[in-house]
Amino acid sequence: MKVSVLTGGGDAPGLNAYLKAITFKAIDEGYEVYGFLDGWKGVLENKYIKLSKELVEKEYFQGGTLLGSSRTNPAKNEETINKAISNFKATGFDVLIAIGGEDTMGASSKMFKAGIPVIGLPKTIDYDLYGTDFTVGFYTAVDIVRDSIEKLISTAKSHHRVIVVEVMGRHAGWIALYGGLAGGANYIIIPEFPLDLSDLVRVIKDRYNRGQTYAIIVVAEGVELGNINKEVVDEYGHVKLGGVGEQLAKIIEKETGITTRAVNLGHLQRGGPANSIDRIFPLKLGYQAIELVKNKEFGKMLAIKGNEIVKIDLSQVEGKIKTVDKELYNFAKSFFY
Ligand code: F6P
Repeated sequence: MKVSVLTGGGDAPGLNAYLKAITFKAIDEGYEVYGFLDGWKGVLENKYIKLSKELVEKEYFQGGTLLGSSRTNPAKNEETINKAISNFKATGFDVLIAIGGEDTMGASSKMFKAGIPVIGLPKTIDYDLYGTDFTVGFYTAVDIVRDSIEKLISTAKSHHRVIVVEVMGRHAGWIALYGGLAGGANYIIIPEFPLDLSDLVRVIKDRYNRGQTYAIIVVAEGVELGNINKEVVDEYGHVKLGGVGEQLAKIIEKETGITTRAVNLGHLQRGGPANSIDRIFPLKLGYQAIELVKNKEFGKMLAIKGNEIVKIDLSQVEGKIKTVDKELYNFAKSFFY
């Protein structure tokens, strides 16, 4: 049996743990393992390498993905679909394990329907992948946000400033919400709910009136304050986000008269090694994926529900995202102080 694997979309800490688990388990089963380079781009361009235990063991400790990644969409049009299918068939590989987020899973679902035997595995720092309670990379990103907030508090305090921290997450507020709560942010703004500017200003002013003369405000990149250029989109139709923090800082300074700075944590949230949970779960999920390979169960994504690994049809994941609901945001609001 020949197993192939790719990592698609934005990279995330924990991808190399996936590659370690898949490679170790597959080789122990007597299979060969190949990795396509740069996600689906490697399938379209016929670029892949053979994976060995030695290679994946060496890269296990590193962030990113040893295979490289891209936002190439194999299901972009008929030509790319046909190219991906004929290239894949020519390799003689029996299965393709695609590791990724909503875009990669959506494309994998389409490519499965078109004839490629695909198995999906969940990864995204954004945590917005439908059908799973866990996505590899998310909790490491949350740890980075928490750690950054703790550092920013000391400088904000010293200068009696407000600091706006812009975080990733695309159109979902998970990183902002969990990173903000973990770091003790004083206010969190996410794309799922409109900004209540008077409430934000009230919370900041109350802090200063109480003698707590600093504030940390977390804002998710997907919050719209007129800063998003909707004309430039990637192969999956996503606009490039970023800049809302600066925008919000100006508004806060104008409304409160308090010196306000903005920090965009950007790609730092995706960089560096994975925390423990973002190693253990990909090790478990990657190992389990080879059980699906053994049983020739294709067209599925492995997901975490509670503490269990479950199977879900890729078609059920396609075209959906998971966002923060009102109840959870209201819970977070009780700590805006
Ligand atoms: O999907 C992960 C993510 O990090 C988003 O949070 C962010 O909007 C996007 O990728 C950034 O993409 P790129 O690295 O292509 O600029």
